[in-house]
Amino acid sequence: MQLRRRDLEIFKNLINGQWVPAQSGETFEDRNPARNSEVVGVFAKSGKPDIEAAISAARAAYPTWRLVPAPRRAEILFRAGEEMIRRKEELAQSMTREMGKVIKEARGDVQEAIDMVFFIAGEGRRSHGFTAPSELPNKAAWCERQPMGVVGAITPWNFPSAIPIWKLAPALVLGNTVIFKPASDTPLTAHRLVEILNAAGLPKGVLNLVHGPGSVCGNALVESDDVDLISFTGSSEVGRHINAGCAPSFKRVSLEMGGKNGIIVMDDADIDLAVEGSIWGAFGTSGQRCTASSRIIVHKAVVEEFSAKLAARAKALKLGDGLDEKTDVGPVINKAAQQKILEYIEIGKAEGAKLLAGGAAETSGPCADGWFVQPTVFGDVKTSMRIAQEEIFGPVTAVIPVGSLEEAIEAANSTRYGLSASIYTRDVNKAFHAARDVYTGIFYFNSATIGAEIQMPFGGTRETGNGHREGGTQVLDVFSEWKTVYVDFSGALQKAQIDN
Ligand code: UN1
Repeated sequence: MQLRRRDLEIFKNLINGQWVPAQSGETFEDRNPARNSEVVGVFAKSGKPDIEAAISAARAAYPTWRLVPAPRRAEILFRAGEEMIRRKEELAQSMTREMGKVIKEARGDVQEAIDMVFFIAGEGRRSHGFTAPSELPNKAAWCERQPMGVVGAITPWNFPSAIPIWKLAPALVLGNTVIFKPASDTPLTAHRLVEILNAAGLPKGVLNLVHGPGSVCGNALVESDDVDLISFTGSSEVGRHINAGCAPSFKRVSLEMGGKNGIIVMDDADIDLAVEGSIWGAFGTSGQRCTASSRIIVHKAVVEEFSAKLAARAKALKLGDGLDEKTDVGPVINKAAQQKILEYIEIGKAEGAKLLAGGAAETSGPCADGWFVQPTVFGDVKTSMRIAQEEIFGPVTAVIPVGSLEEAIEAANSTRYGLSASIYTRDVNKAFHAARDVYTGIFYFNSATIGAEIQMPFGGTRETGNGHREGGTQVLDVFSEWKTVYVDFSGALQKAQIDN
């Protein structure tokens, strides 16, 4: 039954330890993309004054928080991780309701957040620096991490628990304070995560949550002189804008953006395995991953067999509400996304690519009230086509025929992105050539382009990012700065480079 809006709980911002409505009193609705008539929740629609209040709270909390011993900060994360394990199913169910990914994947998303919380909490007793011998007698030198200060974390809707935790956990364990601005399509998961972290014992003002439009709230974070670092995951278009906004003040900025990831399938590959991987890589999360396998670069000797099998598997995928355990592919995030994806399908057809499967919105049966797009496969795609160059962020993949490994590598490298790539081959020499020459941040053998694990660096080359890695211990470099400390205990003036 559809609840009347006035019966719904209004989810608030967390500012300085208090749950408060937007100062304007405005709200916005969070709707289920599989059932558009279902409102999942009503949230504070914040503006600049709310962000400013959150920044003041984070700034005020920082001097104390940065001096809390890191192992103590980490204990809070460990407690939050325990609670996330207890609430895993609830978090996964509400995630599927608000953004559509199938429930198995939503559980995976929560698990990725849990893995990250525990991994990074361990850094409370590590986050190692190092010592090095000094060139002068009776002098010591070491380096250590220091927090950045106040962090603005701006996160996307496609991984509503994993990506926020990739940012919040390392930011907090290192002694930063945070303003978290989640995507407006997934505020409920953000609310639950913050509720858990806050209840685990964060002092007031250390973690603040502000809901609202990116154009207002995100911009207010970027423009503030009291924010020291912006960590953003999302589209390249918004990332470019954030990067430019941070430039005048030299604000630190970590950007994780688009991808146009290619799977290479060689003529000696296990074709069935490659088809299975391609289905998972292209249509998992309805293709709405920055790591999605949106291009499949296939050797001409096997392209016919591969494409026929891929198209048949794509057509057999069951679309529907992700809460139904039997659903293979859920909806896309909203109407605008559905329209954009359908436009790209038209562009592909007009460019002369061959439609092998899908190609339309799905509006029948369980899909009648949601934003669904049929899993779509294009064949005969050339690297110059827009569908082979631009990020579609939906269940659409492009099969690009090539004649050799060299051509495959060239095709894999032919976009402005560089997040992830993979190769299916039984020839170890080809595999190593491709791993060396494909210029991406992540590379896989005999699997798709998705499925990164949190203990490894995550990020990409070229326009996918600006050189940072979130994930692995490398994420610590995003949320801290090095301080080198020299101690002269000689009792005399000693001059580096000069006394020798
Ligand atoms: C993203 O698509 O934004 O490797 C992140 C993967 C996931 C993370 C994806 N572990 O596909």
